[in-house]
Amino acid sequence: MSKTPQAISNFAVQSPLDVATVECALNELLAAVRDDQVPATAVDQMHDYYDRYITWQNHFLHHFAPFVRDVDRCFNPQSTQPHLLDLGCGVATQAHLLAMRGATITGLDHNPQRVAAGQAMTSWFSERSGKSLHVTLQAADAFEMLAQQPAESFDGCYTQFALAYMRPHREMLELIHRVVRPGGRILFREFNAGSLYNRVISRVDWLTDRDYQDIGKELGWQCLARDYCWFVPKQLTNPGQLRHWWGRFEAGLERISPVARYGAAAMTLVFQR
Ligand SMILES: C[S@@+](CC[C@H](N)C(=O)[O-])C[C@H]1O[C@@H](n2cnc3c(N)ncnc32)[C@H](O)[C@@H]1O
Repeated sequence: MSKTPQAISNFAVQSPLDVATVECALNELLAAVRDDQVPATAVDQMHDYYDRYITWQNHFLHHFAPFVRDVDRCFNPQSTQPHLLDLGCGVATQAHLLAMRGATITGLDHNPQRVAAGQAMTSWFSERSGKSLHVTLQAADAFEMLAQQPAESFDGCYTQFALAYMRPHREMLELIHRVVRPGGRILFREFNAGSLYNRVISRVDWLTDRDYQDIGKELGWQCLARDYCWFVPKQLTNPGQLRHWWGRFEAGLERISPVARYGAAAMTLVFQR
């Protein structure tokens, strides 16, 4: 999709949010990173972090756009203005996009360079969106920070491809339970450890969807939604026409529960605490 002028400010006011709108906003960010328009203190880290994504632009959009749309739908920040924890926030792209939608975000990552890049981006996003954004980013280990955080201090928590690295997983889920208020939602987008690809080829030993649900049940969480995505790496389906066809094919596969469970590389789970 081509860059649309004013995409970031349109994104900030657009309602309801759809993937195409997020893609426009992200395209604007990508173009700015490419042209080194983002703050000098952020540019190296942004290039480093997004290198793969910039090379495979659709991969970049696929990584962020559906996720931001799903988090927006889950928490409805435009009307509820929640205080959300972005666990393992990286350079905080999602954090800023969701802050534009009205959320107050606390982003947490133990990589100080990524956090510094994210902090340098806050004024860039604020300027583009014409809003004063409520984003606080902390460079800290998730286990230490969440243990010290006052109990029930967040309205919700979301995380994308970060929980897998936070071991022991059960302990991290218990800490999330501690800091999210009763009734708050928790959205995980993670590798689907139960898929054949992840079991056989990459041999990951992260949590499967069943593990999440079992631990969630023990903590008293209600599972509100479970979705699967990514049957093949996006790099392989990148060329425009193929991407379009494959996207439709994948959407069909995702609806067939056993195929999705054992075939998709990634999954999204939403719980209510
Ligand atoms: C694959 S990146 C995902 C970043 C971002 N959520 C995204 O979707 O682009 C995983 C992030 O988790 C962070 N991380 C891993 N273990 C952590 C820990 N124990 N405490 C805080 N951050 C951690 C890493 O530094 C990294 O930035």
